[in-house]
Order: sequence, then C-alpha cells, then structure tokens
Amino acid sequence: MHPFQRITTGLFLTGLAMTAHTQTTQQQYQLQKTGDAPAVLRLVEAAVRQPAANEVLVRVHAVSLNRRDIYVKAGRYPGPQRPNLVPLSDGAGEVVAVGAGVTRFKKGDRVTAIFFQQWIEGRFKPEYLGSSVGGAIDGMLSQFVTLPESGLVRIPKYLSYEEAATLPCAGVTAWNGLVTRGHTQPGDFVLLIGTGGVSILGLQLSQALGAKPIITSSSDDKLARARHLGAVAGINYKTTPEWDKAVLAATGGVGVAQALEVGGTDTLPKTLASLGFGGHVALIGGLSSFGGDIPAPSLMARNVTASGIYVGSRADFEALNAFLEKHPIKPVIDRVFVFENAAAAYDYMDSGALFGKVVIKL
Ligand SMILES: NC(=O)c1ccc[n+]([C@@H]2O[C@H](COP(=O)([O-])OP(=O)(O)OC[C@H]3O[C@@H](n4cnc5c(N)ncnc54)[C@H](OP(=O)(O)O)[C@@H]3O)[C@@H](O)[C@H]2O)c1
Repeated sequence: MHPFQRITTGLFLTGLAMTAHTQTTQQQYQLQKTGDAPAVLRLVEAAVRQPAANEVLVRVHAVSLNRRDIYVKAGRYPGPQRPNLVPLSDGAGEVVAVGAGVTRFKKGDRVTAIFFQQWIEGRFKPEYLGSSVGGAIDGMLSQFVTLPESGLVRIPKYLSYEEAATLPCAGVTAWNGLVTRGHTQPGDFVLLIGTGGVSILGLQLSQALGAKPIITSSSDDKLARARHLGAVAGINYKTTPEWDKAVLAATGGVGVAQALEVGGTDTLPKTLASLGFGGHVALIGGLSSFGGDIPAPSLMARNVTASGIYVGSRADFEALNAFLEKHPIKPVIDRVFVFENAAAAYDYMDSGALFGKVVIKL
C-alpha cells in the first residue's frame, strides 16, 4: 500500500450540505520543465484542496492516456499550458467531498471529468480553450482532483473506473464525429484509421449503431483483433499503400458514409477519396502530422460534409453515456499500469504497440 493511501479513510461530515475530507496531502505527477529541456514527469507531494462552493473533491481511481498527452509532454501541443502541469485529461473516480451548494453529485458518486471544463453544451466558443483538463488546467494524474460540479458526468453503471477513464477524450471525440456531427445511420460504412484509442472506440460505437466499420492498420495481427470486434473489413496500410481503393472495394464501390480522420497529412487525401456521395468526414487528428489539403471541387461534387472536431461538450458526453447504458460496450483496454509506473505507460503509448487504450490505475 502506498504510504499516502494509509490515511485516506477520511471522516466525513455527513448529513450536511458540505462535506470535507481529512486527507491533506496526496501524490500527483507534474510535468516539470527546466529551460529548453523536454518536460520530465515527476511524482510529487501536493496539497489536497478541499472543495469550495459548487466544487467536488474526487478520489481518482483510473486515468487513461491519449496521443495528446504525448504531445503535451513533448511541448508540441498548441495552446496555453501551465507550469508544473498535472497531465492527462481523462480520469474516473469517486466523489469524496462536496462544497456548499453542490446539487448534481453526492459523496460516493462515480464520475469522470469532461475535457473542456467550460463547454457544457451548444457551439464551441474560444473561451472554452482555456479550460482543457491536463493542458490549459491541471489534469487527472493525481490521487485527488477538485473540480466544479458542472465539469463532471456520472459513469454508466456497468463500467469499471478503468473503462470509464477511456471515454472523456477518445470516446467523446468518436461520438461527436459519428453521431453529433455525423448522424451515422444503421448500415452506413464507417472508416477508422489505425487501431488507437479514438479508432477502436469509433469501431465499437459504429457497430453498436448498426453501422459497418472498416479499419486500417500497420499490423495484420491488429486487423484480426479488429475483425473480432466487428470490423467488416481490415486493410493493412503498409502492405496496401493504395488502401483507399481497397476501402472502396470493400463498400462495393459506393464509398464510406463516415470517416473518423485521425491520421492527418498522410492519410487525409486517401480518406477523402474513400468517401461516398453525401459522406461525412470528421477531421480529428494528425498521427502523421496535422495538415492536409481539402479538394473542394471533388467534395462539392459529392455533397460531402467535413466537420472540424475538438472533443465535445458535456452534452455530447452525457449523450454518449446514455447510449452506453443501452448498448453496454466494453472499451478495449490494452494495458493497465500502476500509478508508480506512470512513465512506463507513457513509453508504451509511444511505442506503437497499443491497440485501444492505455490505462493507469491509482
Ligand atoms: N480533435 C480532437 O478532439 C482529438 C481527440 C482525440 C484525438 N485526437 C487526435 O487524433 C489522433 C489519434 O489519437 P489517439 O489518441 O486515438 O491515438 P493513438 O491511440 O495513439 O493511436 C495510435 C495508433 O494510430 C495508428 N497510426 C499511427 N500513425 C499512423 C499513421 N501515420 N497513419 C495511420 N495510422 C497511424 C497506429 O495504429 P496501427 O498500429 O494499427 O497502425 C497507432 O497504433 C491524434 O493525432 C490525436 O491528437 C484529436
């Protein structure tokens, strides 16, 4: 048992609107930077901040990594980043204390944080950029986090903390691309690029929506696993460089109705070529690099829609969770690391070996 965990059996002021937690210190990771050197992940002792009015104190039980966390650590992620940042946007835990005026949650509730703490619903606004967890503001790689009650959602009952921790970035992004913006219909062909977090959750959601997922990968073994999860076709983008032609063939020449474009510069032209008439592409990522030209005349002629996606709102997350309660998908967790071994989770995430999600248990 970790020394700090021995004193977690806090006394709670039950029966009152406000509850407090007796633990005053915790362990958390910070990205510490000296001069121009890359940031180093350090485990430090930090204060546990009791919840103020409308805030909730959460004991974090699991976090997951996204490609973004690799970019943040390397200093390659755009936007503001605070010094000694606590990294990672995605975490799940249990409410252990609530501040005055909290109405949405009570002690014992199982919650996940939303990616943009201020994006509750509606259109995205520039001011939300400053509220991204594990980027603009401190993240989840911490035994405790204190967040506004508005920045949390309830975990679907059937999911473990590890599974729920996979959803805030990758799950909501896939949902936003496929459903909120894409309006995926049963029978639609859906293109997924690679077998990382967004794509595998996208595959599982597509299948639950009654759509037909087609996936690419650099590995035949991973393609076999993806078929097992419900992919109707799998194409190795290393051995089939003109994989867009294989995608078209897999759809009987019609083209896909939906694509979650996570590859960026190198994959975007082929993703667009894979789209059928009236198709939709969710512009999400830059695994090769962020970029790529849009061939406007060709998209116009096919009545194609392109959506820029930046995760999603709390309303998107709640809609995803409601869908999951009815379609109990188990997110694919490739590996679970212990808290003390967080650096190894980063290394594994960056190794290219992953299939689905990498999780750290606290
Ligand atoms: N806009 C947003 O809101 C948003 C949200 C989430 C993620 N993203 C972005 O979306 C991308 C994916 O994120 P993620 O967290 O799902 O990534 P991830 O889990 O790290 O995915 C890695 C996998 O992607 C595949 N891949 C890597 N390089 C590739 C390439 N050049 N071409 C095709 N496939 C490649 C590989 O799959 P195989 O081993 O099977 O080949 C690799 O294992 C990232 O660029 C991320 O920043 C954006």
